[in-house]
Amino acid sequence: MMARYTVDQLHQRLQSHRIVQGPLAGVSSVPFRELVWRYSQPAWVCSEMISCRTIISGSPSIKQRYLQISAQEGPLCMQIATDNPEDCAKACAVLNALDIAMIDLNVGCPVKKIRQRQQGSYLLSQPDRLYTIVRALRAHSLHPISVKIRVDGSTNDRFNEDVLDAINRAGPDFLTVHGRNYQEGYDTTCHHDQIAFFAQRAHMPVIGNGDVHDQSSVEAMLALGCAGAMIARASVGAPRLIGNIQARMGLICAADSVSMPETWAMFCAHINGLSQLLGREDLALAQAQGLIKYYAKRNQYPSSIVNAVRSTQTIAALSDLVSLL
Ligand SMILES: Cc1cc2nc3c(=O)[nH]c(=O)nc-3n(C[C@H](O)[C@H](O)[C@H](O)COP(=O)(O)O)c2cc1C
Repeated sequence: MMARYTVDQLHQRLQSHRIVQGPLAGVSSVPFRELVWRYSQPAWVCSEMISCRTIISGSPSIKQRYLQISAQEGPLCMQIATDNPEDCAKACAVLNALDIAMIDLNVGCPVKKIRQRQQGSYLLSQPDRLYTIVRALRAHSLHPISVKIRVDGSTNDRFNEDVLDAINRAGPDFLTVHGRNYQEGYDTTCHHDQIAFFAQRAHMPVIGNGDVHDQSSVEAMLALGCAGAMIARASVGAPRLIGNIQARMGLICAADSVSMPETWAMFCAHINGLSQLLGREDLALAQAQGLIKYYAKRNQYPSSIVNAVRSTQTIAALSDLVSLL
């Protein structure tokens, strides 16, 4: 059974563990999170984003998918999206009954459909609305709360000052800053100076995010004044990455090295877990097509195994592909 966490406890975890596993829609469900916890000790791990409307009135199967929590997990930060304080309050009533460590508000999602619903990064241009939503979260959540934003970047947006002001007044317990504008996607260079702007002026601990993948990129975030660094994509296919970096930084004892066949066993466990979560082998195999690219990149698999996964019909047959490594 997971314990509930106070703000102080999460703050201490961030001080001692430094790295947070970030949210990835389509990836950060239970099977991925369990693998991260088996091989690493992040300060906490974020869920996929779930809209408050789904939390309030989604079908039982969709709620089971997004709200499932495993007993093998450490502190879980459940990420929500909304465009209004009323839905936020109603969603809190549901989330308050769950054994999660924190609720995070998504204020960075660049996806058109989400922005059209006036959620995600759209809220950066509406600091007053952002303020009322974070206040609702503060008033109704029994869990600590955080907000995850993007920055002006190199665009003509000029919201950094106003967003900082709204967030400082609303007072979440943590702030995560992804150093790109929503129009800058995921691959342009991060604006470290703008992460520093928030890290040095926010009234709460800031977690720096964007392209963190090794010891020096974690240390670069800490040098900006961040209390921690968030790794999102780099852990997919490499659930031991956070543990390895923490070991190099002397934060935890050295993590055991993992052999190539063991990384394949991780991949198979990941897909098996998805099959159980989704209740359908074909859906899990469809997700395997996307995930194998991450595993291949992180673990230097030959391209033959990527092609073989594409034509595999059953999850049971996946384990035999270990011979191709
Ligand atoms: C496929 C994908 C899905 C993502 N889903 C979410 C999400 O649900 N919530 C969120 O706040 N950020 C999401 N992000 C953004 C990441 O959390 C992170 O901010 C971004 O990838 C930069 O960090 P990284 O370089 O460590 O990956 C997503 C990014 C990608 C590539």
